[in-house]
This record gives sequence, structure tokens and C-alpha cells, in this order.
Amino acid sequence: MKKLKKVIIPVAGLGTRFLPATKAIPKEMLPVLNKPIIQYIVEEVLDAGFKEIILVTHSSKNAIENHFDKSFELEATLEKRVKRGMLKEIRDISKLNISIQSIRQGEAKGLGHAILCAKRLIGKEPFAVILPDMLISKDNGNAGDSLKAMRLNFERGEISSILLAKAKKADISKYGIAKIKKNLKLPGLGLVEKIIEKPSIKEAPSNLYAAGRYIFNNNFFKYLLKAKPDKSNEIQLTDAIQNYIRDGEKVNAFPLDGDIFDCGDNTEYILANLEFAMKDPVMKTKINNYLKTR
Ligand code: UTP
Repeated sequence: MKKLKKVIIPVAGLGTRFLPATKAIPKEMLPVLNKPIIQYIVEEVLDAGFKEIILVTHSSKNAIENHFDKSFELEATLEKRVKRGMLKEIRDISKLNISIQSIRQGEAKGLGHAILCAKRLIGKEPFAVILPDMLISKDNGNAGDSLKAMRLNFERGEISSILLAKAKKADISKYGIAKIKKNLKLPGLGLVEKIIEKPSIKEAPSNLYAAGRYIFNNNFFKYLLKAKPDKSNEIQLTDAIQNYIRDGEKVNAFPLDGDIFDCGDNTEYILANLEFAMKDPVMKTKINNYLKTR
């Protein structure tokens, strides 16, 4: 049984859809309620049972590393003011039971290129990739349940996998859309036959889109190395996956267990805040009262 321990979280993108908010603040540090998005993602990775995180980052994104580091001054102040609950919460962030390393992507040359930047830290091992702007919400169980099912599946049979969610018609041309060959003997939905980046509604082989969680064997790096930059000079992850499948590598499709919000998009970011706020009865009442007045 091959153990799967490492997860790559690429956080080196420019977050242009969220400008000007992301001019000086990383998109991943925007809060959903009182927690930055990246903290939910790290908690998901912990729930899913991984042991090491590799952040692919950029010089403008130090705030992310600082968030998971110890903050002596803040802790001393909270201690002096006897804010014990908050002190524990702040201490817990820097004492997570997972190692976090980072590596730089000097220039934002696409998601595929960002993953390649982590190659040296992955070594010869298999790895997972999780996109930090796709936030999962789950009412029963943990947000990490889907990624955990993918990890356990890999450890049993060393088969790569991707997580798929259902896209609304209007959103199909924003994502990587997959065609599945149903196979009832496999866990999940079956095998991915094809994946197309941002197809038109006409070209789209289904309404199932890649929801930002992937597991690959180490051979996948070869396909990223071979991938050609697209029109915007970016190396696309989807192109490498398509070539990997074409060469006979198996990729299992797993269905999302829960709801997902693309927090890189303004409206979905607001919906993510509402989703988490509605879990709190006091906030829920206030929001419902506010909505009645609109
Ligand atoms: P996105 O395209 O959603 O994020 O990439 P972005 O580029 O930051 O945002 P927009 O589109 O300009 O608004 C998905 C993930 O991949 C990372 C991003 O940080 C994001 O988490 N990424 C993307 C990199 O790390 N490097 C890149 O070159 C591109």
C-alpha cells in the first residue's frame, strides 16, 4: 500500500477578478466570516488525513505563511488581556498537526506551472493538489470527506483521481469539464475519458466540472513538463490531465460530497459567506430579517 502524504496548494495567482481588494492582500486571505479562506482549506487537508502541505507562493503572499506562524506579540497581548478563548484559537492555528513548507513561483505562468514548481519537494512520491479558492461546505461530516475518499482510493490501488461537481449551465464555460465512462465496479462515478478546459456549452461533454481537488501518481509531472503554454502563455493543468489520460493513465472521477463555492468570483464569495453565516442561528435570524426588508 502506497501512503499518500503530500498536498500542493498553489497560492501564487494574481487574483485579478478580486481587484482592487487583492492588490495588497492575497485572495486566499480574504475572510469567510472571521476566518481566511486558506484556513478552511488547510483544515480540509487535515480532515482528509494528509501530513504535509506545500504552498506554491509568490513574494506578494507572505501574509499566508505569517497566518500559520506563531505570533508572539499577539499571544502576549491576548494573555495580558485574559482573552483565553481567542488566545487558544490563535495558538491552535500555529500548532496544527501538519507540516507546511513553501516554494516560490516567480511568475504566474499558470496552474500547471505552479504545480511543477513543487516537483523537488514532492520527490518521487504521489501527491494531491487542492485549489484554495474552491471552498467546500458540508452539513453532516467534514469538508475533507471527499478528499479523504480520494486519498484512501489511491492508497488501495494507486489510481489517480479528480473531484467533480455539477456546474450550472451559465458556468460551464468557466471550468474544466469532464466526460465520464461509468463503471459500477469502481468507487465514485467511473473513469474520466476526456477533460476540456472552458468549453462552450455546445462543446461541453457533460455538466461535471473539476472542483479543485486532484490526486496524481508521480508520473504526472512528465505531462506537466511536456505541456505547451496556451495563448496567454500559461501552462494549463487540464491539458496535462488530458494527455495523461490519452496515454492510458487511469483517472477516477469522484463526486463532490457537499456544496462548493468558487471564492475567486465576487458573487460566489458572498454566497460562501452567507452559507457559513446561516449555520449560526443568531446570524441566520439577522440575515433573514434583513432580506425581508429588501
Ligand atoms: P485562478 O485562475 O482561479 O486564480 O487559479 P488567480 O489567477 O489567482 O485569479 P484570477 O483568475 O486572476 O482572478 C486557481 C488557483 O491557482 C493558483 C491561484 O493562486 C489559485 O489559487 N495559481 C494560478 C498559481 O498558483 N499560479 C498561477 O500561475 C496561476
